[in-house]
Amino acid sequence: MMKVLMVAAEAAPFAKTGGLADVLGALPKALHQLGLEVSILLPRYRGIPPGEPFASFTARIGGKAVEGQIERTILPGSAVPVFLAVNEHYYGRAGLYGEEGRDYPDNAERFAFLAQAALELARSVRPKIIHAHDWHTALIPVYLKTIHQDLGRIKTVYTIHNLAYQGEFDRSAFRVLGLEERPELVVRGKLNWMKGGILFSDLLTTVSERYAQEIQTPEFGNGLHEELRSRAGELFGIAHGVDYDEWNPSTDRWIIRNYDWDSLEGKKENKLYLQRLNGLREDPEIPLLGSVARLVEQKGFDLIAAALDEIIKLGAQYVLLGTGEPRFHQLFWDLAERHRGWVGVNLGYSDKLAHQIEAGADIFLMPSRFEPCGLNQLYSLRYGTVPIVRATGGLDDTIRDYSDGQGNGFKFKEYTVEALLGAVRRTLALYEDKKAWCALQARIMQEDHSWLQAARKYLQLYERLVKS
Ligand code: ADP
Ligand code: GLC
Repeated sequence: MMKVLMVAAEAAPFAKTGGLADVLGALPKALHQLGLEVSILLPRYRGIPPGEPFASFTARIGGKAVEGQIERTILPGSAVPVFLAVNEHYYGRAGLYGEEGRDYPDNAERFAFLAQAALELARSVRPKIIHAHDWHTALIPVYLKTIHQDLGRIKTVYTIHNLAYQGEFDRSAFRVLGLEERPELVVRGKLNWMKGGILFSDLLTTVSERYAQEIQTPEFGNGLHEELRSRAGELFGIAHGVDYDEWNPSTDRWIIRNYDWDSLEGKKENKLYLQRLNGLREDPEIPLLGSVARLVEQKGFDLIAAALDEIIKLGAQYVLLGTGEPRFHQLFWDLAERHRGWVGVNLGYSDKLAHQIEAGADIFLMPSRFEPCGLNQLYSLRYGTVPIVRATGGLDDTIRDYSDGQGNGFKFKEYTVEALLGAVRRTLALYEDKKAWCALQARIMQEDHSWLQAARKYLQLYERLVKS
């Protein structure tokens, strides 16, 4: 049986800020079901319960010896081993990457430690492949092809979840990492980890076919499109699935009433509850839009903010759950004040409320500027919450517009308020036609977006890589 070690900075339910965690919490389970011997390594951040002691090791960071441990636990609801890299100084902090909007200044050290823990673990676990995710782990393929060639038979897969975060550090970081200065890893005057992952891994993937194409263009490539194009033959786009153990309205433990496509009355109770929770007028007839996302440039919140007056005029309500940049906090705080009873704004992180919004809203709004894959549009389908998305990246790949007869949501192209409102108007018009609306809900709830399809594609890539 083939062994694969996945390494990432997040994995649900241990540590999560966004979709990366959902992927690490679900894809390994699906791969395990397909017979792969897969394990995960992540940092043991504050709040993660200790696992069983597994190994001790010494990392070399900035020329100094740094002691660390590796502990072992299990991914809940599965038999997938989870290894935790332990170092109180690096990971015993309030945040994953930083606090109060500022990154920790020693993030290069913190994630170099994780990479070295991965190589140490690889010596005992002996995986055929290390599958590294996002910039935080991009150093692994770099180490394997430079100062750790003794482990050279291990192949690497590197998955880009988001090219907007590249891990850029002062050039002095080369020394911290124990690497010689390498000009090919310098972008915009900084040491760029993402570029290291792109150039040094054996195989590259990203999280939708569309995004795999997009990132080879200057518009989406964030300065790395040429490197990505040069590896186009080894770059694959695989869209995510849904962990239906976690996101399923018929079993969801966070929502006040379970329901399914043939018991949609239950959704109405969740809606009334969500309206009450947010101080909105409680009326099942009023269309209720919702969003759950990190409040960052990527997600299109400037569009939503600019369109909100008109959306309220159209007779709809809006509920938001998110946390991120202060400017968006202020913007939506003001909008909630202005539209009391019609707009509910929740600035924070809450798994429970995220599920309650998926269950209680009629419509999910996700007008991203760019979106590598996106998960909430897929969760929305399962909850009968019709997605309105911008046609970009994984949103374009997973959502088909209703106008084509078989669609599962509503899409718009231009990144403008008018285009967004056009889609909102079309959606609200269908909402008025109760029969057609319920038929659409029942249909999208029965679509199968389970992880197995995606897992099979990863498995094929692993097999191909091991044979090569
Ligand atoms: P991204 O990874 O860019 O944040 P995704 O759509 O892939 O976007 O995944 C986001 C994940 O994070 C979803 O599971 C979503 O429910 C969750 N999420 C985002 N913001 C919050 C929040 N404030 N509270 C709870 N969950 C959140
Ligand atoms: C990223 C992307 C998102 C994707 C997630 C998991 O943060 O923004 O589109 O779904 O990673 O791959």
